[in-house]
Amino acid sequence: MVKHENFKTCDQSGFCKRNRLYADNAEVSSWTSPYELDPRTITFKNGELSGIILKSIEKRSEKVRLPITISFLESGTARVTVDEEKRQKGDIVLRHDSKARKERYNEAGAWALVGGLAPSAGAALSGEAKQGTTSVKYGPAGTFEAVIGHAPFRIEFKRDGVTQIQLNERGLLNMEHWRPKVDKAAAPEAKEGEALPAPAPPKDENEVDESTWWEESFGGNTDTKPRGPESIGLDISFPGYDHVYGIPEHASSLSLKTTRGGDGNYKEPYRLYNSDVFEYELDSPMTLYGAIPFMQAHRKDSTVGVFWLNAAETWVDIVKSKTAANKLSLGIAGTSSTQTHWISESGLIDVFVFLGPTPKDVVHSYGELTGYTQLPQEFAIAHHQCRWNYVTDEDVIDVNKKFNKHNIPMDVLWLDIEYTEYKKYFTWDPLTFDDPENMHKQVAKSGRKMVTIIDPHIKIADGYHVVEELKKKQFGVKNKDGDIYEGHCWPGQSHWVDAFNPLTINWWKGLFQYANFKGTGPNTFIWNDMNEPSVFNGPETTMPKDNLHHGNWEHRDVHNLNGMTFHNATYQALLSRSKAEEKSPRRPFVLTRAFYSGSQRSSAMWTGDNLAEWPALAASIPMVLNQGISGYPFAGADVGGFFGNPSKELLTRWYQAGAFYPFFRAHAHIDTRRREPYLAGDPYMGIITDALRLRYALLPTWYTAFHEASVTGAPIVRPNFYVHPEDEAGFAIDDQMYLADTGLLTKPVVTEGAESVDIYLGDDKVYYDYFDYSIYKGKGSHTIKAPLDKITLLMQEGHIFPRRDRQRRSSALMKFDPYTLVVVLGPDGKGQGELYIDDGESFDYESGAYIHRKFIFENGILRSEDIGKKGKLTGQYVKKMDAVRVERVIVVGGPGEWKGKSKVKVSREGKEVKNVEMKFVEGKSGKGSEVVVRDPNCKIGEGWSISFV
Ligand code: NOJ
Repeated sequence: MVKHENFKTCDQSGFCKRNRLYADNAEVSSWTSPYELDPRTITFKNGELSGIILKSIEKRSEKVRLPITISFLESGTARVTVDEEKRQKGDIVLRHDSKARKERYNEAGAWALVGGLAPSAGAALSGEAKQGTTSVKYGPAGTFEAVIGHAPFRIEFKRDGVTQIQLNERGLLNMEHWRPKVDKAAAPEAKEGEALPAPAPPKDENEVDESTWWEESFGGNTDTKPRGPESIGLDISFPGYDHVYGIPEHASSLSLKTTRGGDGNYKEPYRLYNSDVFEYELDSPMTLYGAIPFMQAHRKDSTVGVFWLNAAETWVDIVKSKTAANKLSLGIAGTSSTQTHWISESGLIDVFVFLGPTPKDVVHSYGELTGYTQLPQEFAIAHHQCRWNYVTDEDVIDVNKKFNKHNIPMDVLWLDIEYTEYKKYFTWDPLTFDDPENMHKQVAKSGRKMVTIIDPHIKIADGYHVVEELKKKQFGVKNKDGDIYEGHCWPGQSHWVDAFNPLTINWWKGLFQYANFKGTGPNTFIWNDMNEPSVFNGPETTMPKDNLHHGNWEHRDVHNLNGMTFHNATYQALLSRSKAEEKSPRRPFVLTRAFYSGSQRSSAMWTGDNLAEWPALAASIPMVLNQGISGYPFAGADVGGFFGNPSKELLTRWYQAGAFYPFFRAHAHIDTRRREPYLAGDPYMGIITDALRLRYALLPTWYTAFHEASVTGAPIVRPNFYVHPEDEAGFAIDDQMYLADTGLLTKPVVTEGAESVDIYLGDDKVYYDYFDYSIYKGKGSHTIKAPLDKITLLMQEGHIFPRRDRQRRSSALMKFDPYTLVVVLGPDGKGQGELYIDDGESFDYESGAYIHRKFIFENGILRSEDIGKKGKLTGQYVKKMDAVRVERVIVVGGPGEWKGKSKVKVSREGKEVKNVEMKFVEGKSGKGSEVVVRDPNCKIGEGWSISFV
């Protein structure tokens, strides 16, 4: 059970409580937001509008000056940034002689953004603006418009004249400006873990409740807040939109719930404050290990989104109303509106606005800014076997052998923290891992890799070179006084690597060189855990907020970025393990627990310490789906569950679900019983092996999906709303997954003893059971038999997907295996699909060393077209793959007229080559027909066609 008392509620987090109270006060009809955009300050140049917002403070004539820029980008995205002039100028005094920076944190973009910032050449002020507003037209053919109200300041974003997103429409904009502390009568103090009673709304400034302005205590730690209150808040409304998704990471439903109480709703806002939450609870807005402040709103045929670029602790309240929030939004098809309230402890207001109109557009635009997922090495998308811990190098070799003995495919064996000597990373325990080199070699014999864990806490121990260097070079995070911070984690007393510092990154890279991290080899990859950072004796199991990072930024400002800076450093380290590799690097693989927007560029993530219980298996599906639509699709959950011992049935069902996680790793806590698949006995071992073989057979399809994600940002597994954006009944469905654009749809069994599942079809197309071609048709729910040995997997008509059907021990051994193409036809007899292949290891694909084919079936002919761009290594790669052919074509749902046929005509590169046998099996009792063409003798890298007519 999670220990709620270890984590703050909104009420216990001063700035969250203050902003919620602000929102409550703003509900009254007499409320007007005290922020005005001074029209005299507005300028517009190069796609950017700038000006000064003036904040009125009660009873003071002086107004706080808040510079705003609204950038209209070529991509059609708009960015609104608000800063505080006094702090920009450094014109403030810090308390306690703090060394912290005076500015509001303005480097989140430097970490999170990698592109998409080119200004729009076409954006222009519109002459039609109403009195008291300024209007800018932008976006595709000027169909987007931002209408900026001056007093009170607010913005409406419109697409085709219809309002989609409103900022400060409810007047919740709040930028707590800097002010000196004026000593008054002592304010009441909060006791540990206890909330203060809600104060009455202030009548004048002297009565404002300052109890959380200047310092705040929680869990025995006092945050000294040298800059006083500095939070930001803003309401963002989506008129006409009933569903919002995103803002991972939470163990919650895909369609986010409302957060201000009421039946079935949450009482707490969704929180984003990367944390190590022990035994986290399900169906909860509580924070987890990672944060992506990107949200999309969806209604029938329209998707829009916002990205709140802020790395400080953030809370998001969500409410929905049945009446349209604004008259301008009347006429929108949606019946209700969603209003959100974003609250961060410090930093800039920096919001990106995406106007869609499809889920694909919104996710793509977000990816243009924060980057797309890295194309992983092929092994990384295969099956990983982990546990805390394999206890000796002999143990590892033995586990490896057993997978071989039982013919169970597996690509990676993992080592958790016990491999080290006293949890000193970059060392091996000499008693248990005395010959790591040999261990790596044995594992490599089956084409397998290893992953070792390296955490950011560095043990304080005499003679440990890593800590000594860290201290000498001052590469650790500092405490508020500027000394290297000390806290408690796995190794005992430790320091924390400050990967915000470029020099630290250089040093970190050196530690991974083969010559320095002895015992590892080219098949060693890295797992970064505990990088929220987790500090066992810190407030909320993390670092004090007044700690200092490189550049003297307070930890408060950068907390949610911390994990990403660490796995970025590791990614870079893996690119340069030796001089030779620096010249011709292989793609790194890094798994991270903490993440932020941009983490997708250099890592995979998993959902942390789940329980070996059925509800945790169920919860993993919406979590993985949410990662996908939030730009970070390389995601999975611990298969089998981390804490506790799963029943064999649960374990089996988990493998069947896990075979459809983009990141597919089994893992278990140190106190659990061994549960490698070969220990499961009959019939479980066989059923698990089948699930693994299915994953391996479909690896070409998965790899093609990863390639797509790496160039467009598209999710790898997709929820119903993404695939069927018009299907209102399916917008909340989050327990089944489509695999990319392949038409493959799985609905994992997540309940004990299930004999069947209900699967939801979002359209009227024909769907075939993957294994026996049973036909399901008709929008809505269908019951499918799902005994333990059956994975619920359907194929939607109109698709073609590639497989490799030879069973091997690891993906490395499949590199030159032939392909099977599965063509799935409906009544219109048409199908399409793609295959992307490269060496699965290096960056040569960037120079064209890949094959990218499109398969098209129409008019009874299947053909393969080249859709790759040629580069300098294309020819060489295609030649290398010359012997790799299509060994089988399977057509499901071919027409009855083919019944009497026994031959197809195969043409290669336009020339008719020969007739090849085909076998037609009629589909009986509600099943689709099957045609099999064996060995059509077509090369995978060349153009060919197969005529069935
Ligand atoms: C916490 C991680 O979440 C878990 O997967 C790991 O086994 C332990 N740390 C030990 O390293």
